[in-house]
Formats: sequence, C-alpha cells, structure tokens
Amino acid sequence: MEYYKIQFVTIVSFILLFPNIQAWGEDGHAIACSIAQSRLSDTAAEAVKQLLPSYANNDLASVCSWADRVRFYLHWTAPLHFADSPDGLCNYQYNRDCIDQNGEKGRCVVGAINNYTTQLLDYGKDTQYNLTQALLFLSHFMGDVHQPLHVGFTSDKGANLINVHWYTRKQNLHHVWDQSIIETAEERFYESNRDNFVSAIQENITKTWADEVDKWEACSSDETTCPNIYASEGIKAACQWAYKDAPEGSVLEDDYFLSRLPIVNLRLAQAGVRLAATLNRIFQ
Ligand SMILES: *[C@@H]1O[C@H](CO)[C@@H](O)[C@H](O)[C@H]1NC(C)=O
Ligand SMILES: *[C@@H]1O[C@H](CO)[C@@H](O)[C@H](O)[C@H]1NC(C)=O
Ligand SMILES: *[C@@H]1O[C@H](CO)[C@@H](O)[C@H](O)[C@H]1NC(C)=O
Ligand SMILES: [Zn+2]
Repeated sequence: MEYYKIQFVTIVSFILLFPNIQAWGEDGHAIACSIAQSRLSDTAAEAVKQLLPSYANNDLASVCSWADRVRFYLHWTAPLHFADSPDGLCNYQYNRDCIDQNGEKGRCVVGAINNYTTQLLDYGKDTQYNLTQALLFLSHFMGDVHQPLHVGFTSDKGANLINVHWYTRKQNLHHVWDQSIIETAEERFYESNRDNFVSAIQENITKTWADEVDKWEACSSDETTCPNIYASEGIKAACQWAYKDAPEGSVLEDDYFLSRLPIVNLRLAQAGVRLAATLNRIFQ
C-alpha cells in the first residue's frame, strides 16, 4: 500500500513537473489536429464526430494530447511516440529502427500509425477494438512523427539528453522542438493566441505551399497512410536543422529560432494535412 502511495505521488509530481516529456507539446498537437479537422470530408467529419468522446465537444484538438496523458499508466504505449535511428546516419529504415528497447518489431510511432489506421478501417463493422482510442492515438502519433526529433538518434534519446539554453532558460533540445519554438512564436508573432497561429499556417497551406499539398497527401496507391515517408523526412530535418549548431551546452537564440521556425511551421502543416488525408481515406 505504502509503496503504491509513494509511486502515485511520484507519478503525479512527475506529470506536474514534466507535463510534455517526449512529445510535441500540447500546442503542437492541438495545432496539427485543428488543421486536420478543418480539412475533413463530410463523411470523415461525421465519423470523427461519432467517435470523439462527448467531453471533447466535437473538437479533435482538445483531445489530441490524450495519448501523452495515458502513457504514464499504459506503459506499453510509451515506445509508440517515437522511433530512434542510429547515431549520425540521418536516415530511417522500418526494419532497423521501428523496434522498442526489447527489440520488438513495429513498436514505434510508424508501427502505431499503421496499427491504428488499420483498426479504424473497421469503422461501421463489428470490431474488437476501441475505435475512440484508435482515433485519439492516430491523431496524436501523426503529430509526433512530424516532430523531427521524434525520429532522432538513439544514444541521446531524440536529443532529450542534449542540454542547451533556450535564450536564458535551461532546456533540453528535444523540448525546444516540442514546445519552446512554438511558444516563442506564439508570444512574438501571434499575441499568444494559438488560433492565430493555426490561421497563419492554414493560410500558407492555401498559398505558399499550395503546389505541394497534393504531394504531402499522396501515398502509393494501395496505402491508406505512409508514415515511413514522414519518419524519413523527420530524421533528415533533425540532422539538417534540429541537431545542427546545437551541441550540448549551446545557447540558442534568435539565429536558431528564426531559421528553424519555418521548419516547425512546415511540419505542423504537413501533420495536419496528412492526418486529414489519412482520415478521409479511412472513412470514405
Ligand atoms: C496496436 O493496437 C493495439 C490496441 O491498442 C495494441 O494492443 C497493440 O500493442 C498495438 N500495436 C502497435 C504496434 O501499436
Ligand atoms: C473506449 O475508450 C474511451 C477512451 O479511453 C473510453 O472512454 C470508452 O469507455 C471506451 N469504450 C469502450 C466501449 O470500452
Ligand atoms: C507563411 O509564408 C510566408 C511567406 O513564405 C512566411 O513569411 C511566413 O512566415 C509563413 N507563416 C507560416 C505560419 O508558415
Ligand atoms: Zn507523443
């Protein structure tokens, strides 16, 4: 009993101290999910509405971080938020990298996206799966796979072990990409209003990126979703932008922030567009 009490207190303190360890922060996920929900076909929008828990009030963004909250008691879900690739290689391979610490195949963010996509294809049929959970997991992991450092290097745990300063604050590099860049952007450019940030990204989806969106959405003809591609792009961006010029002990300021923000904007846009495209293919 005492043991459980201590463990409970430990877990609660942990959640309070580190609410978003190893995940796009709440904002990154909510942004991707808002973009996605605004792009759903009528059929997909209706299915999502039916599957969302009632407390979400048909707002996918409000439950987009559910998977982060349950990982503290559903321990088996922890490896599903990321994939690790070998140090310094800057590429991702499913057979080599989509495994958990025990070497079990498919237990990474890519395997999880495929898994929950397949489960959702049972919608409208008799199914053994909880499709509400499948929707919440898929929506969350689609965000995670687009955060470059969720497909980072193995030995630094996706840069969780790289300590830097974000301006004057001590931070680890993974957290900088989960949260700090997004928060600083919201404060500096969007009056600390997440909806303004979402609108700015949506505008660029229809303008700056208009010619690329079809390519982002596309998978090969027989696939409903294609997370291997998203993960490969992720580790490339991690090497080219996240790890670059950010070694242990560095101080990251405007140079880093302003040159990396466009990558964060792009990855949030792609996450939203691809989540919508995947859901639109699932619920045809
Ligand atoms: C697939 O989903 C089921 C149900 O949530 C889970 O038990 C299983 O571990 C998942 N596998 C992967 C690779 O995500
Ligand atoms: C499915 O999962 C959701 C979220 O955890 C839960 O609220 C709901 O009760 C579950 N439904 C069933 C039928 O178990
Ligand atoms: C939108 O695109 C413009 C022009 O490329 C760029 O200056 C701006 O930072 C972009 N904003 C977002 C949120 O992507
Ligand atoms: Zn996550």
